Amino acid sequence: MEQDILKVLLTEEKIHEKVEELGAAISRDYAGKNLLMVSVLKGSVIFMADLMRAVKIPARIDFMSVSSYGSETKSSGVVKIIKDLDISLEGYDLLLVEDILDSGKTLYNLRKLLSQRNPKSIRIATLLDKPERREADIVPDYSGFQVPDEFVVGYGLDYAEMYRNLPYIGILKPEVYSK
Ligand code: IMP
Ligand code: MG
Repeated sequence: MEQDILKVLLTEEKIHEKVEELGAAISRDYAGKNLLMVSVLKGSVIFMADLMRAVKIPARIDFMSVSSYGSETKSSGVVKIIKDLDISLEGYDLLLVEDILDSGKTLYNLRKLLSQRNPKSIRIATLLDKPERREADIVPDYSGFQVPDEFVVGYGLDYAEMYRNLPYIGILKPEVYSK
C-alpha cells in the first residue's frame, strides 16, 4: 500500500490538529442549536469519527451514501441515493461532513436535495478542498486544507475502494490509476 504513495501530503499530526480546530469552531457556532452531523459515506467516515469527538456540544449523527466515482477519478455529477438518512431533517441544523470538495457537483446536488426536506439550516464541513477544480457554485463553511489538483488517498479517501485505511493523506502515484 505505502509503495503506491508518491508523497505524504498531510501527516496524522497535522490532520489531528486541524480537526480539533474545526471541532472547536463548530462547537462555538452551533452552541444552542440543534446540530445534526451527516457524513457522506464512505470517504468521510474517518473524518466524521474524529470531528464528532472534537465537537464538545450536544450533537446527533447520521449517514448517507450517494453515488459518486466508482473507480474513475472524475465526478459524474449525478447524485443517486444509495443509502438515505434515518432521521427526518425538519428542525435540525444540518452539517454535511465531506472528505473532499472537488468539482463540487456531488455536494451541490446533495445540498439541493436535502434542503427540500426543510432543515433549519445547512452548512458544509469538508476536510479537503480543491478550489481549482470547482465547477459547481459551492463554498465550504468549514474547510480543513486546500490541496493541489492531484489525486489523494488515505484517511478515508480511496482509489477504487483501496487506501482508505492509510492513517495519513498522500498523493497517489499516477501510474497506479493509469494502469
Ligand atoms: P465532486 O462532485 O467532484 O466534488 O466529487 C467529490 C467526491 O469525489 C469526493 O467525495 C470523493 O469521493 C471523490 N474525490 C474527488 N477527488 C478525490 C481525490 O483526490 N481522492 C479521492 N477521492 C476524490
Ligand atoms: Mg466521498
